[in-house]
Parts: sequence; structure tokens; C-alpha cells
Amino acid sequence: MNRLESKVAIITGGNAGIGEAIARRFAEEGASVVVTGRRRQELDRVVTVIRHHKGKALAVVGSVTEEAHAQEVVRQTVDSFGRIDILVNNAGIGDFGKRLHETDDATWANVLDVNVTGVFRITRAVVPQMLKQGRGAIVNISSIASLVGLPTLPTYAASKGALDALTRALAIDYARDGIRCNVVNPGLINTPMAAPLVADPERLQPILAQYAIRRPGTPEEVANLVLYLASDEAAWVTGATFPIDGGMTVCKG
Ligand SMILES: NC(=O)c1ccc[n+]([C@@H]2O[C@H](COP(=O)([O-])OP(=O)(O)OC[C@H]3O[C@@H](n4cnc5c(N)ncnc54)[C@H](OP(=O)(O)O)[C@@H]3O)[C@@H](O)[C@H]2O)c1
Repeated sequence: MNRLESKVAIITGGNAGIGEAIARRFAEEGASVVVTGRRRQELDRVVTVIRHHKGKALAVVGSVTEEAHAQEVVRQTVDSFGRIDILVNNAGIGDFGKRLHETDDATWANVLDVNVTGVFRITRAVVPQMLKQGRGAIVNISSIASLVGLPTLPTYAASKGALDALTRALAIDYARDGIRCNVVNPGLINTPMAAPLVADPERLQPILAQYAIRRPGTPEEVANLVLYLASDEAAWVTGATFPIDGGMTVCKG
């Protein structure tokens, strides 16, 4: 029996990197998946791959920074598949290589708008449907940047710290409505976001020296953890934080 048989899942930022791996893994396990993102061509590519493997997928193009998009994602998902069982808030952007005094207002506002307010908007649009159904699972994709101090990413760290706290707040507020909410905190994962770093051995090696398992993770490894949390196997798991980081946050060299 497939682990997500007859479930319907929305994955924001499902057209690349970790989000794409989650969408493909979920579809393999029987879910109907709705992928979102701003780049239509990349969305169409993921939908085509999933359908090629006999999965069910739909793309909704748009930005998590737009309320109308959040409403449209929910409308199209319910119109096409009749329900929403799983929401993965994966869409996110980084701002790396600057300290706080080098960060301008526009960058700060943009990162917070996508990584925090975007999750607020999409989740606010989805929750009424989950309340109607009396069940649902939300998985937020955060980062180890919310768990340990890392250099030159203050805006990103602040945004992911807010996401961890929001996860716990949602878990408490909706537990008795049958809605679970958990957060996954990846370390360095080989995706387009991390590609410049992964391709630069001089910068990569000192970073990997901080990982007990001395390699970057893969999007598929993150997808497997998200699959567990989204599935009924995790029925008693809510409000929890899950580092997936090759031991980075416990490694002392
Ligand atoms: N890679 C890592 O090392 C790493 C580590 C820890 C946490 N994470 C987190 O994992 C998540 C996925 O990261 P990734 O590495 O897979 O990044 P990625 O390869 O850059 O993919 C980011 C995804 O987010 C979407 N996105 C960005 N801005 C958006 C917006 N305004 N509205 C809708 N979608 C938007 C992108 O699609 P469009 O560009 O088409 O909009 C894309 O699908 C992020 O939340 C990131 O912070 C990544």
C-alpha cells in the first residue's frame, strides 16, 4: 500500500531543489500533488515528469508573496482533487554573505515576505479547508540556520527562526482539530540554492569539516523525512523540530 494513497498535497516551490524532490516522492507514494512557484516552465517540467510515471500533478504558477495566489492555489487544488490533506511550505529564498550592517531594508523585507509572510498567507488560505475535513498535516521547511549560529546570514536565520516558532504555535492551536504541524531543518543540501557553494571547493571544504557526515545532503534525503511527517505514520507527531544535517548541529569537529 502506498504511504500517501488518495492524499492531496500542496508543495510550494515545488519546481526545483528540495520541493521538486518532495513532489516526486509524494507522487510515487500515491498522492495527488499541486506544485507552485513563479517559473511556469519549471513547474510544467515537474508535472510532466510526475505524469510520465503515472502520478497525478497540477501546477499553479505564482508567488507566495501574493494573497490572490494563495487563494488561487486552494481553489484550484479543491476544484481538481476535492480536498487538501498536506501542505508543505517549502518555497524560500536566501540572503548569504552579508552581515547585518551590510543588509538593506529591501533585502530584509523581501526575505521575510517570502520565508515567513509567504508561509502565513498560504497556510491561512489552506487551514479552513483542513478544518472542514477535520484533518491535515503541515510541514514547514526551515534550516539549521534557526538552530545554530552561522556566519553572514542574519536575515535568513531570523526568517527561519520565525518559521520554527510559527510551527509550534500552529501545532498547539490546531491539534484538537486534527491538524498536525512540524518543521524540518536541513543542513547544506545540493540544490540550485546551494549550487554556488557546492561548486566552490575552497568555500565548501571548511563547511563540510563541520559535518559529522562529510558531504552535502540530497533533496531526496530531505523528501524522505518530509514524507514520514506528512503521512499517517506520524499521527502522534506535532510541534516538533527535525534537523536533517549529517550531524552538523551536534558535531564538534
Ligand atoms: N539547499 C539548502 O542547502 C537548504 C538548506 C536549508 C534549508 N533550505 C530551505 O529549503 C527550501 C527549498 O530550498 P532549495 O534549496 O530547494 O532552493 P531552490 O533550489 O532555490 O528552490 C527554491 C524554490 O522556492 C521557489 N520560490 C522562491 N521564491 C518564491 C516565491 N516568492 N513564491 C513561490 N515560490 C518561490 C522557487 O521557485 P520559483 O523560483 O519558480 O518561484 C523554487 O521552487 C527553502 O525554504 C530553503 O530555505 C535549503
